[in-house]
Amino acid sequence: MPLMIRQLSEALGAEVIGLDLSRPIADAEFVRVHRAHLDHHVLVFREQQLTPRQQIEFSRRFGPLDAHPSQGDAHLAGHPEILVISTRQENGKDVGIRNAGPLWHSDLAYRQQPSLGSMLYAIELPDSGGNTGFANMVKAYERLPARLKAAVGERRALFSSTRNLSLLAHHPVFRTHPETGRKSIFVNPQLTKSIDGMAAEDSAALLSEIYVHCQQPEFIYSHEWRPGDLVFWDNRCVLHIADHTRLDDPTYIRHMHRTTIAGDQPF
Ligand code: SIN
Repeated sequence: MPLMIRQLSEALGAEVIGLDLSRPIADAEFVRVHRAHLDHHVLVFREQQLTPRQQIEFSRRFGPLDAHPSQGDAHLAGHPEILVISTRQENGKDVGIRNAGPLWHSDLAYRQQPSLGSMLYAIELPDSGGNTGFANMVKAYERLPARLKAAVGERRALFSSTRNLSLLAHHPVFRTHPETGRKSIFVNPQLTKSIDGMAAEDSAALLSEIYVHCQQPEFIYSHEWRPGDLVFWDNRCVLHIADHTRLDDPTYIRHMHRTTIAGDQPF
């Protein structure tokens, strides 16, 4: 089947049809996938059957991989590049991170060099729930009221990890995509602490107005997972959130492998 790109929603996202990621992909195919990723920000590859090694190899086509700070206790044995996101337990202990992404965020935004993108591969899924929401921060920036753009100006914000508060970085509230040159909103409710140079209440009020704007349905695509889906999102211009409404239900099994591609310093 020839490679095809099919748009998934008005907000963002496209399905890549006709590519078996368990085999090395040709350079011409890579160029098309890379272009589609820049244009649509989230790519969905259906019906994949990937070993951890194959997922790592495909991810590495886009750059070196990042080790997640939680990877010490949540990585796949023998594959430190793979973060396990899972509700499975073994001997009463979680086998991976149970509640990754409870709020809108961009992966590793608290690093000096946040992630370029993440690839999440669905291995086992519940009968309902567990969607991942993706929000287009390029569109959100373009449609942000001028009043809010002016209030932020060129300011930066402080980001920190929720699990390790010593991991901190300051990044522009509005960043420029290093490959497309397009501006997007980079702050997020999970990892942004405050806007630099503002009183705490003013910063909190401004961030909360920006978040309300970013969470409008016109910017959002909600991905309903099927087993074998591999979803690749651009952390430089997309926020994401996991639907955790059934997290405490013992029959709710959602087991996934994530690779995270290293990015560069936001500007
Ligand atoms: C993540 O935040 O990387 C995980 C998203 C998900 O589990 O849907």
